[in-house]
Order: sequence, then C-alpha cells, then structure tokens
Amino acid sequence: MILVTGGAGFIGSHTCVELSDAGFDFVIVDNFTNSSKEMIDRLGSITGKRIKSVTADVRDKDAVSDIFSKFDIDAVIHFAGYKAVGESVSAPLSYYRNNIDCTLTLCEVMSEHNVKKLIFSSSATVYRSDNKMPVDENAALGCTNPYGWSKFMIEQMLRDLYASDNKWSIALLRYFNPIGAHSSGMIGELPSGTPNNLMPYITQVVSGKLEKLHVFGDDYPTIDGTGVRDYIHVVDLAKGHISALRYINDKSGVEAVNLGTGRGYSVLEIIHAFEKATGEKIPYVIDKRRDGDTAACFAKVGKAKELLGWEANLEINKMCEDAYRWESSNSN
Ligand code: NAD
Ligand code: WQD
Repeated sequence: MILVTGGAGFIGSHTCVELSDAGFDFVIVDNFTNSSKEMIDRLGSITGKRIKSVTADVRDKDAVSDIFSKFDIDAVIHFAGYKAVGESVSAPLSYYRNNIDCTLTLCEVMSEHNVKKLIFSSSATVYRSDNKMPVDENAALGCTNPYGWSKFMIEQMLRDLYASDNKWSIALLRYFNPIGAHSSGMIGELPSGTPNNLMPYITQVVSGKLEKLHVFGDDYPTIDGTGVRDYIHVVDLAKGHISALRYINDKSGVEAVNLGTGRGYSVLEIIHAFEKATGEKIPYVIDKRRDGDTAACFAKVGKAKELLGWEANLEINKMCEDAYRWESSNSN
C-alpha cells in the first residue's frame, strides 16, 4: 500500500490515477488547505474504485502514526506542502513550518514503522538561476525565495537521513513546470485567488475571469525576448512517480532526478500554441520583468531515462488542450 500525502492536490490527484492504473493500492492523506474534498469523489469516478482517504494534517504525528498502524504502508509519495513562491516571500515562517514540519513528522513516523521508501516532490527552483541550460542534476543549487529554500533544506535533510541509515531509498524528484490536466476534465489545478503561474492565468483570461495576460518582460536573451520554461504535462509527470516507485523499491540510496521534457518554450510560443490548440484568442500586453524570474530554465533529462526508464511523451498541443478543457468544464 502506498501513502500519498497531498493526494487531493494538482500533481497528487493525477499520480493517484496513474497508481490505480498501474495496479497499486493507495491511501491519501490531505488536510484540503489547497484542494477540495470533491477531488476524492472524482478520483473514484475516474478510477472506478473506492478511494481510501484520511483528512489530517501531515504535521499531526498521532494522526500520521494512526495511518501507518491502520494500513500496511510500503512506500510514501510526499506531495503535501505549500507551493506559492510569492506567498512564501510574505509568509516565510508559514512556508518553512508547513513544508519542513510535514517532512520531519512524516519521516519520523516512517522510521518508527520501519518504512524507508520515499518519493519527495522537489522542484527545479532549487537550481541556481545562473546555471547553463539545460540543467542537469549536478548543477549548482541555490534559491531566491523561502519556498525554494524549503525544498533545498528538505533535500539536504533527506540526504542526511540516508547518511545516518542507508536502508532508506529516496527519490528527490525535481519537477519543472507542470501544466495540463487529466483528459477527462475532472481533475486539474485549483489556483486560489488570481493565478501566479502562466497556464492557469491564460485559461482564466480565456474563460473571461481575467481581462488579459501580462507577459513579464520581452527583453530576455531568449528566442523572442520572453521567458523560456520546460512545461511538462501533469500526466507525464504523474507517470514519472510510478517509474520512481519501481526504481526505489529494490535498492537503497538517495537520488535527485529532473522530471521535465528537456524542451523550453517561450511565453509567446505558449500563447501561440494555446491559440492553435483551442481556437481561442489570448489578449496580452507586454509588461515589465517579474522580480525573481530568470530568462530560461529547462532540464537535462538523461538521468530520468537512464535510472527510471521514464521520459515525457505528451506534446505542448495536448498540454494546452487539456488545460483548456479543465478550465472550461470547471470555471465555476
Ligand atoms: P497542491 O497545492 O495542488 O497540492 C498540495 C496538497 O497538499 C494540497 O491538496 C494541500 O491541501 C495538501 N497539503 C498542504 N499542506 C498540508 C498539510 N500540512 N497536511 C496535509 N495536506 C497538506 O500542489 P501541487 O501543485 O500538486 O504540488 C505538489 C507538490 O509538488 C508540492 O510539494 C509542491 O511544492 C511540489 N511542486 C509543485 C510544482 C508546481 O508547479 N505545481 C512544481 C515543483 C514542485
Ligand atoms: C512561467 C513563465 C513568467 C505568469 C514557478 C515556480 C517554480 C515551480 C513552477 C514550484 C515565466 C511568465 C507568468 C504571467 C508571464 N513551482 N509569466 N505572465 O516562474 O517558471 O515557476 O512555478 O516548485 O518554483 O517559481 O512559472 O508559470 O509562474 O512562469 O509572462 O502572468 O511565464 O515570467 O517566464 P515559473 P510561471
């Protein structure tokens, strides 16, 4: 049985669908601070199975211990945490508290129950922005905001944990920019308030919730001056977790692995791809650069292929189509 923390969230819910398809039994723990209980019912509809889920805060040690006593957990996929970069700058303590405390509590309980297989949601944000692109897993690390530092610190904590007890088997998955949604249109990203990320902003412009897109800078040293990122379909990303789960199953160690496509798209390229995929027009204006942004960030993906036997398959057209379907069927 796999424990999925934060399994009602954007990436967690898609991973649960893939777990189910791959024949894994799983239980979700989520406190629904950034997701809806309805996602559990929708997961049931997509998978045709009764979804096991516990409403609890992962920082609540007794509650997490209870889960390990009640279910025969073999491995944990740990998504639970806060993820909004801007919010982490204004509320650093809350970000450090939630992200680090969740992981500490979880690992303590895992140790006590002798469960030592863990997949952790890290981020491309742990890489210093002055690395040469594409960035591989050995590139220099360093962050620009508390959210990023919380991931950086947790990676270090997990390396120290393995050093202290080499029975642990840990994958630090560094996600690039997940977008898109399940093709059913039933699960997807639920931004709270005005979205900060590009794709949910675009879909809300198209649905009329927002007036126009602000393109943050057109004077970067990139193909057309706008920022370049490695967008990956959330379903591809979810499948990466199944490969990682198989990888950590029969060995010990701690490995950081990039999950991206290896291909960068500029903001203008995304706008055009979205318009082409959906037939919608995206009104936009060029605005000034956003603080903390870098010109380009995309992954070297060889390690994921070599170690996990995984690579991303879904194209930008599909990412845009699925993001659009999700917004169109859930805009209220
Ligand atoms: P999300 O907010 O949609 O999902 C996180 C889930 O964790 C939510 O359902 C939330 O309710 C839950 N949660 C938060 N704190 C909790 C707590 N203390 N106890 C129990 N549940 C709690 O985010 P997501 O986009 O699915 O991201 C999942 C993970 O991947 C996060 O750790 C995030 O930092 C990381 N990540 C996300 C991205 C991205 O762009 N979405 C990129 C890189 C890394
Ligand atoms: C993408 C591009 C913007 C919004 C963030 C986090 C990162 C990771 C993924 C968690 C950039 C431009 C955006 C808009 C725009 N999350 N943009 N107008 O900044 O690469 O990464 O999410 O780990 O840690 O930092 O993603 O989607 O915000 O931006 O022009 O309204 O779109 O400048 O070039 P980012 P994003």
